[in-house]
Amino acid sequence: VRIVAKVNPPTLHCELRIAKCELFRSPCPRVVEGSETATIGRMHNIYLVGFMGAGKSSVGRELARQMERTFIDLDGCLEDSFGMPIDEVFRTRGEGAFRQAERSTLERTAGLHKAVIATGGGAFCDPANRDIIHSGGGCSVFLKVPWSVLVGRLEADHRGRPKFTGPVAAKHLYDTREPHYEHATCTVVLTGSESPGNVAEIIVDRVAGVPCGT
Ligand code: S3P
Repeated sequence: VRIVAKVNPPTLHCELRIAKCELFRSPCPRVVEGSETATIGRMHNIYLVGFMGAGKSSVGRELARQMERTFIDLDGCLEDSFGMPIDEVFRTRGEGAFRQAERSTLERTAGLHKAVIATGGGAFCDPANRDIIHSGGGCSVFLKVPWSVLVGRLEADHRGRPKFTGPVAAKHLYDTREPHYEHATCTVVLTGSESPGNVAEIIVDRVAGVPCGT
């Protein structure tokens, strides 16, 4: 397992992060001496991002349990608000309606703090959504699972996943999306054999305190 933390030069996002933190009257992210780089504080939301089948929801649930945080499953929220499963939303309302609702639900999570949020596989690929996550003071964690593992999981069970239309199309989608996931604050490189609990432990141990990047 390899953790990649980006150390970016000070950015507007970091400044916003500190401002947001003051708003919450919580301990501010540590400012590393000699630089203005903020680090992920205990109050920041953690967003799990990555491709379908990476385990974002099961890891998120475990992570929230281990960190005693609230867990939010973005897709679950969307199903609740549409009153139907996601594949039915795609079929009856179209992907555009889904993406719009995904954006506004994400915006609502930016007003929270100290939550663990599992996003859907497409959410982080929209730069505007990344802005909502980062400028709202959130830390994004990319669960990077090898393609061979992802495709195996998706072929075995892709019920309710309208964006999985077969291994070849999914590989193309993966290739176009991976550069977007690389914008995450941290990347956790996995083999795919870790349990959700193991992955959550890795995040708890290693991700807290890494410099925030956008
Ligand atoms: C999507 C992934 C799904 C869900 C929707 C769209 C995507 O979430 O948000 O079907 O575009 O990759 P999971 O990544 O949890 O499967």
